[in-house]
Amino acid sequence: MNTTYNFLEQIISNRRTAKSATMNGQLIDDNLVKQILALANWAPTHGHTEPWRFIVYNNMTKKDFCNAHAAMYKQHTPQESFVLATFEKLQQMSDKASHIVVVYNKRGDNAKIPPIEEIVASSIAMQNILLGAEALNIAVHLSTGGMMHKQPMKDYFNLTDEDTMLAILYLGYSDEQKAGKRLTSIESKVEWR
Ligand SMILES: Cc1cc2nc3c(=O)[nH]c(=O)nc-3n(C[C@H](O)[C@H](O)[C@H](O)COP(=O)(O)O)c2cc1C
Repeated sequence: MNTTYNFLEQIISNRRTAKSATMNGQLIDDNLVKQILALANWAPTHGHTEPWRFIVYNNMTKKDFCNAHAAMYKQHTPQESFVLATFEKLQQMSDKASHIVVVYNKRGDNAKIPPIEEIVASSIAMQNILLGAEALNIAVHLSTGGMMHKQPMKDYFNLTDEDTMLAILYLGYSDEQKAGKRLTSIESKVEWR
């Protein structure tokens, strides 16, 4: 097995999702974030629609998003189901992180490309970010919680009905090493014919 493969295998299998609350508050250089975002642009793209889009908050602005996210939750949650702990958690989501990268799919105007294919392309772009982060020892919390899939979030970012929010990535550094877990083997998910 060649060393490039071994290195890639290590990056892929060691990548873990880290909760932002377990990050240590250390800041990431903006240039490193730019570097891993550049990897996203190399995702495969049918018809070159290149539909992946990112909104980046750094240490100076991350709290603006979290406050807005929490306020969105409060405004759009009926009083009887509003949970104060959820509101506070959304406000504090980035306190120990460094950057936030909001990932969404921008539906292109090439009608020949089915929407699912653009979402696949953007998902692969996101994986490039996760792997680049792992290679730089940057921890990532991939979150789809809170208001992420709700209309107010799309409105907040001026997304059209055809665009899709994919994830909110909280980036930082962590001192914790989480063990990987998969419930079933790859063999149980593959059928050779
Ligand atoms: C589409 C998608 C949505 C996810 N949403 C969340 C989330 O809201 N909160 C969270 O903590 N992790 C979320 N995760 C991360 C998973 O919890 C994580 O990938 C899983 O536990 C396996 O762990 P690993 O990423 O360390 O291998 C999401 C992952 C995917 C693919």
